[in-house]
Amino acid sequence: APKAIIAPSILSADFGNLGAECSKTMDQGADWLHVDIMDGHFVPNITFGAPVVAKIRPHVDAPTASFGRGTFDCHMMIAEPKRWVNEFKAAGCNLYCFHYEAAFSTAAETPSAASELRTSPRELVRYVHDQGLLAGVAIKPATPADVLYELLDSADPKERPDMVLVMTVEPGFGGQKFMASELPKVQALRARYPDINIEVDGGLGPGTIDQAADAGANVIVAGSAVFGAKDPSEVIARLREAVDG
Ligand code: DX5
Ligand code: ZN
Repeated sequence: APKAIIAPSILSADFGNLGAECSKTMDQGADWLHVDIMDGHFVPNITFGAPVVAKIRPHVDAPTASFGRGTFDCHMMIAEPKRWVNEFKAAGCNLYCFHYEAAFSTAAETPSAASELRTSPRELVRYVHDQGLLAGVAIKPATPADVLYELLDSADPKERPDMVLVMTVEPGFGGQKFMASELPKVQALRARYPDINIEVDGGLGPGTIDQAADAGANVIVAGSAVFGAKDPSEVIARLREAVDG
């Protein structure tokens, strides 16, 4: 399985001091930053948009390679994910991870844009790649892992996601309880795809990382466990150790 990538979620950072929080977390050993974008439609919460991402980008050195240190892993918990790809790219996003469930539909309140925004997960992976970003596809707890197989099996690399994200809480809020019930999805994906990046997000920390790592996850998001820790470096090291052994 691929090596550990630790991606602290800045959802749990001090939003009044975000640039400094981001650079501090990188200094504490983070590989990526996980950037949670919520629109109040796809999930019942609102965070921030591309202008804020653009303001934090200069506080973290941009990655010099695909999947490299400093990758902004943007978790798009939004309706109409196709609509925002270019804006987030311009803001400094490197990996655009949209929700499978959101990719088919358009928001009813923007009928004029509907036809060009209606898409499918497969077309959207291609579109994200065509814009020069890495593409991730996330699934909520209610969505089975096998919906991702047709994408991951695609003969066309443009249509293959670079990462899949298996949510281990209902998306929308930090600090929720880890759902071990989601781990069979990670296991099934890892068995079928030994080399892909599998991210887990929600409720991860020193108490839950071993089960997630055993199931085969290698990209580890942690919000409250990192930002709420006395010693975040130690938590980041512990998460890495659980995956890399
Ligand atoms: C939840 C977000 C997560 C969140 C995780 O919808 O996608 O990234 O920040 O927070 P913790 O690690 O506290 O569960
Ligand atoms: Zn997230």
